[in-house]
Amino acid sequence: MDLPFHRAWLDDDEINEVVDTLKSGWFTTGPKTHQFEEEFKKYIGCKHALGLNSCTAGLHLSLVAMEFPEGSEVITTPMTFPATANVAVHERLRPVFVDIEPGTLNIDVDRIEEKITPKTRAIVPVHFAGHACDMDAIEEIARKNNLVVIEDAAHALESSYKQKKIGNLGNLTSFSFYANKNITTGEGGMLTTNDDVLADKIRVMRLHGLSKDAWNRFGKSGYSHWELHTPGYKYNMPDISAAIGIHQLRKVNRFHELRKRYSAMYDAAFKEIPELETLITKDYATPAHHIYIIALRLDCLTITRDRFVEEIQGRGIGVGVHYVALHLQPFYRKKFKTQPQDCPVATEYSERVLTLPLYPKMSVQDVNLVIETVADIISKFRR
Ligand SMILES: Cc1ncc(COP(=O)(O)O)c(C=O)c1O
Repeated sequence: MDLPFHRAWLDDDEINEVVDTLKSGWFTTGPKTHQFEEEFKKYIGCKHALGLNSCTAGLHLSLVAMEFPEGSEVITTPMTFPATANVAVHERLRPVFVDIEPGTLNIDVDRIEEKITPKTRAIVPVHFAGHACDMDAIEEIARKNNLVVIEDAAHALESSYKQKKIGNLGNLTSFSFYANKNITTGEGGMLTTNDDVLADKIRVMRLHGLSKDAWNRFGKSGYSHWELHTPGYKYNMPDISAAIGIHQLRKVNRFHELRKRYSAMYDAAFKEIPELETLITKDYATPAHHIYIIALRLDCLTITRDRFVEEIQGRGIGVGVHYVALHLQPFYRKKFKTQPQDCPVATEYSERVLTLPLYPKMSVQDVNLVIETVADIISKFRR
């Protein structure tokens, strides 16, 4: 591939910090994770940040901590990565998909209330592509119906809603540091909350349910016993990952500026191509620009999205599809009897979206290459 879909930006800072961690002899959750959590807390402005080994772990622990009765319903968007809804299934809950709004592809807040039943316990909004959902509306619905809000912020590290940082709003927010995220630790995640009780509970649940983690058991003051009050999970962040995260976080504003600049270049170029729809930014949102989506106007073209993907990849440019919506996936269709017409907007976008490369390691020339290639393919397959 001449231009891969993603390449992480890693410098000697990250490498030296990992080497330092390895030489220190302490690899698992310890001082580096603690430092990363402290710096992450400052960046978000929240009270608690818990380092985990994935965003999925954060979404799962959020539901575990709530102790909803089996069969409870969790409202979410179908336009997301499977992890968002899978964790509800793991807890024997029922994900209920609410259709998305055109333009942002976020959950359509005007359709949430019609899906609320006596079994509904939570809303899990996903800030798609890093554009914040309408959180005032979601929190108002949650308050009225006594629901918990658990935010999937895998795409939304730099996102704000009405100038307030995502991660400092709802009950619990889960971030991802997966390989292609806005900052990475290879694998990793961070759960933020301002709720002391939830933070204490999840801190224990992320490491088997032990009352003390290893760093605190083998500390300077000598060995002390842990106690087990509940069977937890193995979701803690290792110091080797945190060592990378510490330096990635220090570059987040620089990365974000580049993402913004390249998104603006795409926006300006694609505005001139009527066969393409690009996503919009609402007044209330400062987007993280995690991924850049184009939606093909298939009625103006002689190719399908999948053929378009083949064509652009054939020309050496890596692309992705975010997403073929979850209500269309065989598992959800079989288990929960979901159908395409349940979420018609998401169904329609699922057939025509694709994701172009967008990352700080790209150059302006790379962005121009993508623009020219897209324009050329469109001109070849215009109706
Ligand atoms: C919207 C969304 N939610 C959750 C996840 C899961 O993140 P992780 O791989 O850190 O568990 C992803 C990962 O791609 C995602 O895009």
